[in-house]
Amino acid sequence: MSAGPAVHAEGLTRDFGALRAVDHLDLVVPRNSVFGFLGPNGAGKTTTLRLLLGLLEPTGGRALIFGRDPSREGETVRAECGALLEHHGLYERLTAVENLDFYARINRMGCVEARARMQELLEGFELWERRGDRVSTWSKGMKQKLAIARAMMHRPSLLLLDEPTAGLDARSAAALRQDLLRLVRAEDVTVFLTTHNLGEAEQICDSVGIFREGRLLAMGVPEELRRRATRPGVEVVGSGMTPEIVADIRARPDVLDVALDGDVLRIDLAEGADAPPLVALLVGRGVEISEVRGFAASLEEVFLSLLEDET
Ligand SMILES: Nc1ncnc2c1ncn2[C@@H]1O[C@H](COP(=O)(O)OP(=O)(O)OP(=O)(O)O)[C@@H](O)[C@H]1O
Ligand SMILES: [Mg+2]
Repeated sequence: MSAGPAVHAEGLTRDFGALRAVDHLDLVVPRNSVFGFLGPNGAGKTTTLRLLLGLLEPTGGRALIFGRDPSREGETVRAECGALLEHHGLYERLTAVENLDFYARINRMGCVEARARMQELLEGFELWERRGDRVSTWSKGMKQKLAIARAMMHRPSLLLLDEPTAGLDARSAAALRQDLLRLVRAEDVTVFLTTHNLGEAEQICDSVGIFREGRLLAMGVPEELRRRATRPGVEVVGSGMTPEIVADIRARPDVLDVALDGDVLRIDLAEGADAPPLVALLVGRGVEISEVRGFAASLEEVFLSLLEDET
């Protein structure tokens, strides 16, 4: 495996005619983390996965997978990846073992290694007992698990999963998430999954990117993003913010919380509170402000749409 983070997108852009599906995406996903790409329908999630796999050419910018550009070294990149895109692509008339066997052969895995890996994954996904049944007799949840097992067969370094729990009932989705998380935590693998379910992201992702209309609106730890999105707030960028000033801001009744990160002061406002008096206070205390930005408004709307269909 070459150097670099699992995924590094720099200005990654993809147009379909006049439509910009992915718009200057900048993103770093560190190795061995579980990253959730969270966005409503049509956000550009699937397009991004296809760009990362080198199945689509970017219109601009580039993506690097472990330092390799998939539009130049597509085969090498894809060999390092396991992917489950929108359709599971299993052979319904074959058994689970036959499906995995077929995939193992395509990936030139040795027979003994393939058998051991198959057992490990089928057991991990609680499918071992049903390994000899035709996949056509399986539930949707079982098929999704098998499709992920197949994507993991050759021990990929990066697992790309496009809405792995879409269409599953709450129980099957929870079982899949639990098995997936247990398996990936035990291996040297990075997971990049898409979802339009905030609850799902919170349960299994180390970090999340909120994506809408081709743009990344926010990145961070899921709980933190939820907090940011459900409370209005303001970020003040500037210099001269002393601990005393931060404490004074925190003590105000119109402020719920304050966090200073470098030269960015994040202020969570109480309901109905306004930013201008706080900005005036900072200026009055000698803070040199270079930027003031609200951070909830744009996220809130997206979060509502993501919360609606939580399972
Ligand atoms: N091959 C294509 N040709 C033209 N337009 C496309 C193509 N693929 C995607 N698009 C458009 O790009 C936008 C993003 O689509 P994409 O499938 O990436 O979104 P998504 O976030 O995966 O949505 P969903 O949650 O519905 O799967 C949409 O407006 C879609 O219609
Ligand atoms: Mg999609």
